[in-house]
Amino acid sequence: MTNLSVNINKLALLRNSRPGEHPNLLDFVTRLETHPIVGITVHPRPDERHVRYRDLLPLKSVIRGEFNIEGYPSQALLQRVLSLKPTQMTLVPDRIDVLTSDSGWVPGFDDELLKHVCTKLNAAKIRVSLFIEANTEHVRFAAESGVDAVELYTGEYAKACDTNNLTRVEDELMKHQSAAECARTLGLRVHAGHDLNLQNLGRYLQMCAPVDEVSIGHALTVDMLRFGLDSCLEHYCLLVSGCNPE
Ligand code: PXP
Repeated sequence: MTNLSVNINKLALLRNSRPGEHPNLLDFVTRLETHPIVGITVHPRPDERHVRYRDLLPLKSVIRGEFNIEGYPSQALLQRVLSLKPTQMTLVPDRIDVLTSDSGWVPGFDDELLKHVCTKLNAAKIRVSLFIEANTEHVRFAAESGVDAVELYTGEYAKACDTNNLTRVEDELMKHQSAAECARTLGLRVHAGHDLNLQNLGRYLQMCAPVDEVSIGHALTVDMLRFGLDSCLEHYCLLVSGCNPE
């Protein structure tokens, strides 16, 4: 079963644009979780323009399913994750000024920190996922570092789909297929995320199945505005469930 982890950062961005609690994140989480395959992702960034550090505890208290906190494992974020004990932490190599995570963790980038963080999270029984490019060498590096899962960065695949460049789409899918297969062989869970949407998700899941988790924020938030929350979630859940092999 693929978990559809809904990234609620954009809901928080909207809330933060005015004083007050509109939209209320906790209400949204409760409604999102009425759809059985849904989990929740948050990505608290250092400038707190999205989900804020102080949102984490109330969110933890209402989330009943999978709770994924992603971000660069700074001391400030790691301490909070260790004390909250969500289901999972996804480690990303974000620069401080980045608009959105636009590349994976590459071998050689803070390797010692990565091992240290994995040890801490493993000891706290928090699943560790590493956001990486779809590259088998990077998958092997992730496995050696002690992670439980890799989240394959799908931004380049999504760009290829947007430009309708079929050769590039196929090339990207081949890379993702090999990386996913390599991860499964090494005993890692396979996650995918970034710029996934109703147009590109189905083909991705068919080609790379079985995928344990897809993490989707921006497009899904836009689709909630277009279709309404429940109808939007039905579209995504149908697509995700339909692509699971029997
Ligand atoms: N995965 C990671 C590691 C991310 O940083 C993000 C964006 O916060 C996503 C997935 C979701 O990307 P999108 O908002 O494009 O669906």
